[in-house]
Formats: sequence, C-alpha cells, structure tokens
Amino acid sequence: MQRFRKTASRTSLLCFALVSVACHTGTAEGVDMSAQPANVRADYEVFAQRCSKCHSLSRPLESGITDDAYWAEYVERMRRQPGSGISPADVPPILRFLHYYSSDQRRRRHAGGSRDGGK
Ligand code: HEC
Repeated sequence: MQRFRKTASRTSLLCFALVSVACHTGTAEGVDMSAQPANVRADYEVFAQRCSKCHSLSRPLESGITDDAYWAEYVERMRRQPGSGISPADVPPILRFLHYYSSDQRRRRHAGGSRDGGK
C-alpha cells in the first residue's frame, strides 16, 4: 500500500514535468525532472527549450561532457550558430542546469549505479 501511494504520486509529478516541458519543446524527451528542486526545473526548462531546436536533447545529455569549462564553450558555440534563438541571458540558467546535471551524472557513476546508464 505504502509503496503504491509513493509510485502514484511520483507518476503524477512526472506527468506534470513532462507536460510542462512538452509545452515548450513539443516533445516529451529529456530528463525526468520530477524529483528535482523547483529552481533546477526552471533552469531545465530554459535548457530544454533552447537546446532542442536543432537536435534532440540527447545530444547534449549523452555527450558525456561533465566539465563546466567545456559546457561554457559548447553553449557559446551553439549560441553563435545562425538562428540559434539563444540569447546571452539564456546562458546562465543553461550552464547552471548543465552543471547540476553533470555533477549528478558524476555522482551516479561514483556511486557505482549503472541503473540508468547515464541517461
Ligand atoms: C542553431 C542550432 C543549434 C542549437 C540551438 C543548439 N545546437 Fe548543439 N549542435 C548544433 C549542430 C549543427 C551540431 C553538430 C555540429 C557540431 O558538432 O558543431 C551540434 C552539436 C552539439 C553537441 C555535440 C554533440 C557531440 O556528439 O559531440 C553538443 C554537446 C551540443 N550541440 C549541445 C548543445 C546545447 C547544450 C545547446 C543549447 C545551449 C545546443 N546544442 C543548441 C546546432 C545547434
């Protein structure tokens, strides 16, 4: 019973996260943000919106990049692509999300958890 309730509430949170992301990007791909704090979700929305225009979000998410300096360089390179739609004001939240995501990935790897394979 306990277990069922927990799963149900996680599922509705997930639906909420997917719906709000889908509104911006038109897709439901990306990261399960249901367990993340609200400020991280807000950053993620900027990332999901800006970085899904030319390629799927899995491009950055599965690039294996975990270095902040690398990300800063990449986001700058993407921003300068013609018609990227990424403004300088979008960069801080995007980098904040990527930093958070990268640290999370590193933590998982260190913890030996291969459950989600770095998705
Ligand atoms: C204007 C279109 C455009 C936007 C917007 C865009 N990208 Fe890209 N991205 C590309 C193109 C084109 C490539 C492939 C060419 C290249 O590697 O430079 C690419 C490649 C990448 C790669 C390399 C993947 C690999 O396999 O090496 C990463 C990482 C990446 N993008 C991240 C991002 C991030 C993060 C954002 C949001 C800040 C973003 N992109 C937004 C066009 C875009």
